[in-house]
Amino acid sequence: MNGTRDPKADFLSIYELIRRPGADKLLAWLKSTDFFTAPAGAKHHGAHAGGLVVHSLNVYRRLRELTIRDKSDPNEPGTYHMDHSEEETVAILALLHDVCKVGVYHTETKRRRNPDTGTWEDYQAYTFRDPFPLGHGEKSLYLITKYMALTEEEALAIRWHMGAFDDAVKGGSRALDAAMDVSPWVWRLHEADMCAARIDERKAAGV
Ligand SMILES: [Fe+2]
Ligand SMILES: [Fe+2]
Repeated sequence: MNGTRDPKADFLSIYELIRRPGADKLLAWLKSTDFFTAPAGAKHHGAHAGGLVVHSLNVYRRLRELTIRDKSDPNEPGTYHMDHSEEETVAILALLHDVCKVGVYHTETKRRRNPDTGTWEDYQAYTFRDPFPLGHGEKSLYLITKYMALTEEEALAIRWHMGAFDDAVKGGSRALDAAMDVSPWVWRLHEADMCAARIDERKAAGV
């Protein structure tokens, strides 16, 4: 969400759309972790403190827009109104799909040669080290459902949100294709994730 004043405040206000049992415990756990200060990645999109929350908000805006796009009458684009359960699903998928990134990006001091002066200097960089390597979508799914139940469609969407970049898909699994047949939320969340990382966050970084 470019130009947002306080990403954490925006995140918390959207989180209020999630009213199912356990949502409060899940949020309390998130607040006890580095979720609100973590980057979205070590090198690519959102490689800065708070990048993960900004990414989650970008996915929220994208997912909401494209759900309305897909569900509107083609003759009246943008007119579909989501009911509460759809709004809740959008909030859950967008805000929580990357909770697997909690506790995995560590700051380290590295050395580099300054391109202008040619001298060596220290700089702070993120290094990825996962103490709980359960898999990307799999780990988000596990962490969320420790506190709060998901519908089957939400579980599929979070599990497969990496799309063709998922390790299982790269290894030949056909389950992503089957999951996309079961629920449109699978490709919607993947599409929103791609738009956020490849368009919104690259634009914000001036790439
Ligand atoms: Fe992800
Ligand atoms: Fe993501």
